[in-house]
Amino acid sequence: MSRTLFIAGNWKMNTSLDSGVALAAGITETIGQVEAVDLGVAPPFVYLPAVGAALAGGKILLMAQNMCSEDHGAFTGDISSAMLKDVGVRVVILGHSERRHVFGESNELVSRKVVKALADGLDVILCVGEQLADREGGRTMDIVGEQVRVGLEGVSKADMASVTIAYEPVWAIGTGVTASPDQAQETHAAIRELIGGLYDAEVTDALRIQYGGSVKPGNASELLAQPDIDGALIGGASLKVEDFTAIVEAGVALAQ
Ligand code: PGA
Repeated sequence: MSRTLFIAGNWKMNTSLDSGVALAAGITETIGQVEAVDLGVAPPFVYLPAVGAALAGGKILLMAQNMCSEDHGAFTGDISSAMLKDVGVRVVILGHSERRHVFGESNELVSRKVVKALADGLDVILCVGEQLADREGGRTMDIVGEQVRVGLEGVSKADMASVTIAYEPVWAIGTGVTASPDQAQETHAAIRELIGGLYDAEVTDALRIQYGGSVKPGNASELLAQPDIDGALIGGASLKVEDFTAIVEAGVALAQ
């Protein structure tokens, strides 16, 4: 089956209010009407309303980089799914490797967030990925498999229509080192096979698996051309209108 590519920018803790709005306006101008691929950007929380306004009129989805697993209450510094929806967020990135490895989020916490986001009507990008020592020790699928299995615990077949998985090898994030298209394809295929054991063929065929980790205009085509790579989650290169646009155009060319 053919899956629509999903290309998303994760701005992380970057931009100012002005530069974030200018970036959103810039990509809305260049690729805001693209139909052939699905698009989204995740600005910092405090810029969501302003960036959402700058994206208005285009097809680029407003996304968030994280959320709390709870509804409301004494969770200083956190943001709930209802708050995200209030300001127009449609998709939330959960379990990003920086959340796991810098902030100590466990598979179990990520799982609670996934269930909560889906229950509250947000789409989810569930990030998974191994560290360099895991890859070198031959444990890639032990780690990634566990992240996928626990991350999707309690997620029904129907809810899987709202889930994208992002495979982001930690050693490739922000390092300039990209997984080779073959390395990425191999892991994507293994993730899809694992999903086949958890759900039925319909879910497995429809699931989009993005690749993330130093995706740039120069390597996007080759990565996106792999049969089990259904999009990209882009950090650094999503911060420049020309680079993000070029990656999206590579996706559009493949979709035609
Ligand atoms: P990068 O980040 O493109 O800067 O490597 C990817 C990500 O962390 O989502």
